[in-house]
Amino acid sequence: MAGTGVFADILDGDVYKYYADGEWKNSSSGKSVAIINPTTRKTQYKVQACTQEEVNKVMDSAKTAQKSWAKTPLWKRAELLHKAAAILKEHKAPIAECLVKEIAKPAKDAVTEVVRSGDLVSYTAEEGVRILGEGKFLVSDSFPGNQRTKYCLSSKIPLGVILAIPPFNYPVNLAVSKIAPALIAGNSLVLKPPTQGAVSALHMVHCFHLAGFPKGLISCVTGKGSEIGDFLTMHPGVNCISFTGGDTGIAISKKAGMIPLQMELGGKDACIVLEDADLDLVAANIIKGGFSYSGQRCTAVKVILVMESVADVLVEKVKEKVAKLTVGAPEDDCDITPVVSESSANFIEGLVKDAKEKGAKFCQEYKRDGNLIWPLLLDNVRPDMRIAWEEPFGPVLPVIRINSVEEGIHHCNASNFGLQGCVFTKDVNKAILISDAMETGTVQINSAPARGPDHFPFQGLKDSGIGSQGVTNSINMMTKMKTTVINLPTPSYTMG
Ligand code: G3H
Repeated sequence: MAGTGVFADILDGDVYKYYADGEWKNSSSGKSVAIINPTTRKTQYKVQACTQEEVNKVMDSAKTAQKSWAKTPLWKRAELLHKAAAILKEHKAPIAECLVKEIAKPAKDAVTEVVRSGDLVSYTAEEGVRILGEGKFLVSDSFPGNQRTKYCLSSKIPLGVILAIPPFNYPVNLAVSKIAPALIAGNSLVLKPPTQGAVSALHMVHCFHLAGFPKGLISCVTGKGSEIGDFLTMHPGVNCISFTGGDTGIAISKKAGMIPLQMELGGKDACIVLEDADLDLVAANIIKGGFSYSGQRCTAVKVILVMESVADVLVEKVKEKVAKLTVGAPEDDCDITPVVSESSANFIEGLVKDAKEKGAKFCQEYKRDGNLIWPLLLDNVRPDMRIAWEEPFGPVLPVIRINSVEEGIHHCNASNFGLQGCVFTKDVNKAILISDAMETGTVQINSAPARGPDHFPFQGLKDSGIGSQGVTNSINMMTKMKTTVINLPTPSYTMG
């Protein structure tokens, strides 16, 4: 159970502690932040409201710890990460319980998130050992005018202190996707979890603590964004920020200093359906892509662009499947569970009302109870409706009927977002042409958008982000190149 057994140390009374200097601590603020259970809409947990002074201390410790960690052999760093991964998987049940209570993730998906995270940590350890163990060797006489008098040795060195800010929808998985590459590359890591998801993240961090990482190398500060948000992202001690979330990322990138940024800021992933598509496959992928975790995934299908000639049949098939989705509590492992907050539910409702006023066809009756919104397919959506462009982050999916592939590509490319997209057709040649034309970081052919498997490159264009994630890309992004040049008095090939 959460906060008990090996996790008892992380809880004091009814407030979860923050993690600094290898210890679980109470904030000197004496204040806490409440975490509201999306299902009950009552306070479920409380976390420390850390102060700016505490952030300063964490940054100092992170800087000191990183210096010796960078000198720790790579195989040893990998060994500790493997240990943390095993502990994480061993304790999947209490962590999944937190995910259910804090972010209303369906019970089975919550367990999957933790297991997937353990696998990600192990994979990163292995990948790091390989790619960080390699460097580059150059000789000077390949460049015009040079003799072979210089040997250039390049290798990757850590950046320093990485600030990781994951989103509420994957507070464990999208935290470890930043923590593991940072650590294997020899960096230290400061984690600022989302408020909803913070307790799951604190449990995850405890698994790293139990694995025996050095003091100060990993820290986790909780608190109000208004108090420590900008303070963290603008902190001079931070050498890199890896952020996943919404618009806040754009603000962060404007304020951050001259440091590498990795940002993933959502999407409006289009699903383009051609006349020759396997419509059963499309319908199954729309359900999985559009409604899993109630549409609260940046890679969710967020607009269907279907050729008019097959639209009626497709809508009917999707409707049948929507009717079978279970709606209710995450504890019961329902398909559709309450969205994360009341403000989120209100936002979704605003999009639905706008679509109604402008004449969208409702394939189901709109229904809401608290934060729980029943799955809704909106047909005949037109570009003047907000739902055609904005991401609901909820179980509401618009269908726009198109008369040409070009029309679909145009709609996709007119979006501010450019995360992923998908195209369904049996003609692979056409699929490749469409993929090239879509301005998104990834195009899936004959499957719904998705980030995983977690070692695949994952990136967004336009307002969807900066940089690329995926295990290898994240490790590379959290390092910089260092070269040593050996200068010889005479060209090296003159002897003999
Ligand atoms: O919400 C953003 C996530 O990166 C999406 O990940 O495709 O595994 O659900 P996913």
